[in-house]
Amino acid sequence: MSEHLTVVDHPLVQHKLTLMRRKETATSVFRQLLREISLLLAYEVTRELELTTERIETPLEPMDAPVLMGKKLALVSILRAGNGLLDGILELIPQARVGFVGLYRDEATLKPVQYYFKVPEALDERVTIVVDPMLATGNSSVAAVDLLKKAGARNIRFLCLLAAPEGVARMKEAHPDVPIVTASVDSRLNEKGYIVPGLGDAGDRMYGTK
Ligand code: URA
Repeated sequence: MSEHLTVVDHPLVQHKLTLMRRKETATSVFRQLLREISLLLAYEVTRELELTTERIETPLEPMDAPVLMGKKLALVSILRAGNGLLDGILELIPQARVGFVGLYRDEATLKPVQYYFKVPEALDERVTIVVDPMLATGNSSVAAVDLLKKAGARNIRFLCLLAAPEGVARMKEAHPDVPIVTASVDSRLNEKGYIVPGLGDAGDRMYGTK
């Protein structure tokens, strides 16, 4: 992708995002909206995938028809909130290979620490799409991309629902080669690292754990 940051301003995305932001939106509705929005965001993040052609026969005649080139995509979810975006994208790209990165924040150093890492093989030959609904400080996103690069990934994109300017800047500094696709860049982070105005804790809202 050519742009470092793409904000998907499609009216359906923006409308659904507003419904998700509302504090009275129920868990079940929040999850359903996230699933719907993830399909639309997946459309955007895969826009520049390379195509080749395959000889096929329609009922009328043979043709060279477009098909995706190369190995199957790798989708990598940053646990746990990434799974909400992942589920919708997998409906659109069911053949994708899936990985998971688990990180927690060490309260002493405030640095992300890895507790789980399982990714598809041959990452160097795949387009890798990292998914996490909230790009806040950027600490876990940068750490996840660091790990994926160590595992061989070369062609990485980052998909989120909301981003803070701080997180976008941190990703750009650490990983300028990783384009970001989001539905909104909100105004700021608060002192607890939440995106403002945001939508709260995405994992809690998705799974009803608050
Ligand atoms: N993670 C969330 O779930 N929400 C935020 O606002 C920031 C990080």
